Amino acid sequence: MFIVCSGRLTAKVNFIRDVKPILEENCVRCHDADSVMRGVRLDRKDRAMMQIVKKKPEDSPLYNVSKSGIMPPGGTNLTHAEVETLRKWFAEEAPWPNGAELAATNRIK
Ligand code: HEC
Repeated sequence: MFIVCSGRLTAKVNFIRDVKPILEENCVRCHDADSVMRGVRLDRKDRAMMQIVKKKPEDSPLYNVSKSGIMPPGGTNLTHAEVETLRKWFAEEAPWPNGAELAATNRIK
């Protein structure tokens, strides 16, 4: 487990493999076309980029609410490893392949 984690921290972040599942599992159900909480959408690149300042995680709402545990609401915070993945992704200029759209994997019924 430890070896797997530390291996991931040194490798480059891959949006589809590393970031997409975190957002789809924890965020998109409240931030997509059906449920646009606070006007924030994280299912589409153009909208998600409004919450992102490339290279500056500390200036990015998406990162700050995740790190502080404000999001997702209700106490189910992202793990330290997940927050760290987001931080690295921002530092690598938050690449998001054109056309990659996210869909919630645990929508509230
Ligand atoms: C259960 C629904 C829900 C989930 C899941 C959720 N959010 Fe939110 N989000 C909200 C609501 C509601 C607000 C508005 C909060 C407010 O106005 O106080 C919000 C607001 C935000 C904002 C705007 C904050 C601001 O001050 O303008 C951002 C950015 C955000 N969410 C990102 C995320 C991220 C990133 C995740 C996943 C880690 C996430 N949200 C998961 C419901 C959710």
